Amino acid sequence: MTERRVPFHRPALGDSEKEALLEVVASGWLTSGPKVEEFERRCADFLGRKNVLALSSCTAGLEIALLAMGIGPGDEVITTPLTFVATVASIWRTGATPILVDVDPTTGILETEAVAAAITPRTKAILPVHLAGYPAPMKELLAIAARSHVPIIDDAAHAFETTSDAGKIGAVGACTAFSFYANKNLTTGEGGLLTMADNGLFKRAKSLRLHGIDRDAWQRKDGEGFRFYDVAEVGLKANMSDLSAAMGIEQLDRLPAMTARRLAIQERYNSGFAEIASLSLPSPPSVGEHAWHVYAVQFVEGDAPRRDAFIDALFARGVGTSIHFKPVHLLTGPSKRIALTRGAFPCAELFYDTHVSLPIYPAMTDEDIDYVIKAVTEILS
Ligand SMILES: Cc1ncc(COP(=O)(O)O)c(C=O)c1O
Repeated sequence: MTERRVPFHRPALGDSEKEALLEVVASGWLTSGPKVEEFERRCADFLGRKNVLALSSCTAGLEIALLAMGIGPGDEVITTPLTFVATVASIWRTGATPILVDVDPTTGILETEAVAAAITPRTKAILPVHLAGYPAPMKELLAIAARSHVPIIDDAAHAFETTSDAGKIGAVGACTAFSFYANKNLTTGEGGLLTMADNGLFKRAKSLRLHGIDRDAWQRKDGEGFRFYDVAEVGLKANMSDLSAAMGIEQLDRLPAMTARRLAIQERYNSGFAEIASLSLPSPPSVGEHAWHVYAVQFVEGDAPRRDAFIDALFARGVGTSIHFKPVHLLTGPSKRIALTRGAFPCAELFYDTHVSLPIYPAMTDEDIDYVIKAVTEILS
């Protein structure tokens, strides 16, 4: 038995989420309806963009954004190998080709010169990931995108509270997809959100969200008698339920406190680990705001075996960890499509080999934080 167990994540859910769920159950309307509409309005206010779509996942959001833009076979989308497989898989599912480029060695985010060099006449979008909640260099990426006449679709799965050097994430890229998966800063169990600048694209995305149907069940249900619907084009089944949205509304109310707690944990970690010479610690961006979805430390002169031994030692003391991420070209299934091996993206690979993500979530107690600091310090001293 370890002295204490600090899992990698525990969601911060309270009585208000339970009550909100019971209220939806009692209402008799479970699928997309009034709660989804309210959640979308609240997210639009929070992000500062009116066109927002609540979805079943961030993965669906990325796919819908690409499809709404007409991206498909023969097209290229520039993105990062240092991401969750969903980023790249959403491009494959449209029939387009992901063009992977290496990352900045410090942030793990798309390197802008590499992006500029990868633009071809077939490039149809640039898809950066705000890894860990740290903002991608949006000013530079927007300049490249404008020069090349391509849009930015950003993967903001980690970045609901992030602000970049060009403004709030969600209101900067042509399309932005967020995740509300169980371990995210704001959770609806499973869920996602897509924001879009363009009204025409938004209309198409809204229809793609639900089979291409022109009005959803909630819109068909009011008192004007039976209504036929039409299917404009074949879409996805990616709507959010009112159950999820009701949870999301409660989570939005608590978001400022949850964000402040993440920031406080990061600050305590950074001062607690300051004397450990073998570690490099994450820092906030010089401009903008970090969402601190992930807190990853790096072994300064490390390699994968050293990092792995550290993970095992923390596990033995009851502390959960994670890795963000094993680059996609090193994963079995994707590697069959990408046909690139180790050495293709040295910065992404070194980032993977030497980083480990520690627990950071509002449900951590002060004792949990002190325990993690003590465990890391003892293992590395
Ligand atoms: C970077 C990144 N992109 C996309 C996703 C997919 O999110 P979802 O599970 O909501 O589809 C994740 C999920 O964790 C992620 O980490």
